[in-house]
Amino acid sequence: MHYEIKTEKVKNSRLADIDFDNIPFGRVFTDHMLVSDYTNGDWQETIILPFQELRLSPAATVFHYGQEIFEGLKAYRDHEGNPYLFRPYENLKRMNYSADRMEMPEIPEDIFIDGIKKLVSLDRKWIPNNEGGSLYIRPFMFANDEYVGIKASDNYKFVIFCCPVNAYYSEPIKIKIEQTFVRAAKGGTGDAKTGGNYAASLHAVTRARKIGYTQMLWTDAVEHKWIHECGTMNVFFVIDDKIITPNLDGCILQGVTRDSILTLLRDNEYKVEERPISIDEMVEAHRNGQLKEVFGAGTAAVIAQIKAIGYNDEDLTLPPFEEWEVSNWLFETLQGIKHFKIPDKYGWMVRV
Ligand code: COI
Repeated sequence: MHYEIKTEKVKNSRLADIDFDNIPFGRVFTDHMLVSDYTNGDWQETIILPFQELRLSPAATVFHYGQEIFEGLKAYRDHEGNPYLFRPYENLKRMNYSADRMEMPEIPEDIFIDGIKKLVSLDRKWIPNNEGGSLYIRPFMFANDEYVGIKASDNYKFVIFCCPVNAYYSEPIKIKIEQTFVRAAKGGTGDAKTGGNYAASLHAVTRARKIGYTQMLWTDAVEHKWIHECGTMNVFFVIDDKIITPNLDGCILQGVTRDSILTLLRDNEYKVEERPISIDEMVEAHRNGQLKEVFGAGTAAVIAQIKAIGYNDEDLTLPPFEEWEVSNWLFETLQGIKHFKIPDKYGWMVRV
């Protein structure tokens, strides 16, 4: 089955009004968006149209029971100005993994990949030119039955819109180890990219922000002992000469940046361990001076260095960032590939 994508262009672009040097993350939207509706067991018309509000019934199931999934990926430009996407097939794979977990229909490649390519091509002038800038692409799907009973919906809407962005975190952050609230439990939805995971984190994050932390370091639901992720990104620890990140145990997101980092590290003879890591191991390594770097990794955050970790009313502070060999090298390498300064030997950059 081949899905056609129709296009209705804006009459007047808003591009000239945008100050690309001062773009807050996620608040500026490009001229167009894509919308596709699933009904009667298949995807119907898919259309790219001017960015606008959606018209929905107040009884739409997503408002009541949160059957929703989303993705985040980025577009860049090469030296000639041609647009490229970073590893979009990984996002398609994860979107459909999330769809299965949330009992939603698969999104076909024709709509997801071709839709992103058409949309980004149309709005390519919105891709920032500056170092660190990119076009953040947000595909999402939600349940759209007009029904208040609880069941998997029969109707869905898939939408893609884009935002020109700079770094999600403009400076190194402080995170707090969470030992009361829980983001994910085994058998839950922690490894699906669904809005409910993020909604469930807000209470703890808001409390942590009030005392000076930006994000949480989430721990397991049973013992609050094993480290999961930060909520906005996966997490890595450099202990002596080893780089450790929690293994994919069903509770953490299968990050595309996480996977890219593991590939880069392994290819460059770093010692990498994907395994359970406990708070105790991390605190002990800090006490012994072996904890050299802690950083988060995600599409929006890229690589976010962590300057302190709040634990039991105390801050574990990290050494000065200039000495951070691993995360500085990873940042330069990843950004170098995305901005066409370093050859893309993995074929990660996909031409639009
Ligand atoms: C992403 O990195 O794409 C996310 O979805 C995380 C969110 C904090 C923007």
